[in-house]
Amino acid sequence: MSSHPPSTGITITLSTEDSYSPYMVEEDTDKARAASETPGLEKHSERRQPRVLTFYRSISWMLGFRDKYSLLNCFVWGGALVGFCLARSITMNPGRTPHLLVPGEWFWLSQSIYKPNLFIHIYLATFGGIGALFQFLPVIRRRNVILHRINGYAVLLCLIVAVTCGSIVARRSFGGDVNSQSSYYIQAIMIISAALMGIYNVKKDTRRHRKWMLRMVVYFVTVLTARLIALPARAIMTIIGTYYTVWRCDEVISLLRAPETIQSSFPQCAAAGINPVDVYVAVHASTHDAPLYVASAARAAQGMALWIAIVIHIIGVEFYIFQTDAANQVRLNFALEPHDFTQT
Ligand code: HEM
Repeated sequence: MSSHPPSTGITITLSTEDSYSPYMVEEDTDKARAASETPGLEKHSERRQPRVLTFYRSISWMLGFRDKYSLLNCFVWGGALVGFCLARSITMNPGRTPHLLVPGEWFWLSQSIYKPNLFIHIYLATFGGIGALFQFLPVIRRRNVILHRINGYAVLLCLIVAVTCGSIVARRSFGGDVNSQSSYYIQAIMIISAALMGIYNVKKDTRRHRKWMLRMVVYFVTVLTARLIALPARAIMTIIGTYYTVWRCDEVISLLRAPETIQSSFPQCAAAGINPVDVYVAVHASTHDAPLYVASAARAAQGMALWIAIVIHIIGVEFYIFQTDAANQVRLNFALEPHDFTQT
């Protein structure tokens, strides 16, 4: 009778602490093994490695990344997130905010219900966005798990409250266009659902926790991609020349101001006896005209840009999770499990 335990058909790779490299993926391990087994090859490959690659690998090692492209991803996407947060942090100054928004936005967002929500959103989205980057540095997770935990809860609180306040503002954002509104709400639902799934899995399954938290942050940054899409979209709509958005007369008057201009461009809004709150007009979308028309182009493009960005981010994050799955092995003492057995 055999004394061996029954075979499960699962291959478990054994590794020792000393030979383990946090950013080495299977391919690298194979190369290292081949180099050590072939005399002279190690020195040769070391000589051929460009300095920039050595530098990249050193930083990657120091930050604790396992996958060779993780640092690059962290640099590009994390940099974009932090860059966006810092760039828009100028809107934290209430004196400057009205001038930094798209023309016409302040007409609604200055109202008592939206203004505090807008500022809570701006502050918490900025702090939460910057804080989120640190959650993805493996070196913090491994060496200072308390910091990871405290920062994690702070980021979650910031993002969930920021998104909730953002959704309240979305009711009137970009004129309250239903296309924009619905995409903001869907984003909020996606972000909060991913956050809740991440919290649910934090103690149960670290790998799932990582995946959901990645999704949450990637969904959160959709607005950045939306801005990049909206800019050329506004220009293209201007070139096509047949796009219009619907504005209420009091919004139009708040931007045009001069009675003669209102009379000549939107006579319906200047007609005797009308209530500007009840009359709506079509405003041409054009980035080459006065602020009213530029704002109309922004409104026309916003919803479409947000929806396209949502799709891009969903596909992007799932692709990234798929690509990096093998590198995120479960470490059980000396054993590394390359597959997620919880999903089979
Ligand atoms: C990295 C993530 C985010 C950052 C840094 C951020 C930051 C900001 C800032 C600074 C503003 C002020 C306006 C401006 O900059 O043009 C703003 C506006 C706004 N944000 Fe966010 N935000 C983020 C994500 C979100 C998300 C996920 C939502 C979805 C609920 C959202 C909804 C809004 C809305 C509705 C406005 C008002 C836009 C307007 O009418 O001009 N934001 N955000």
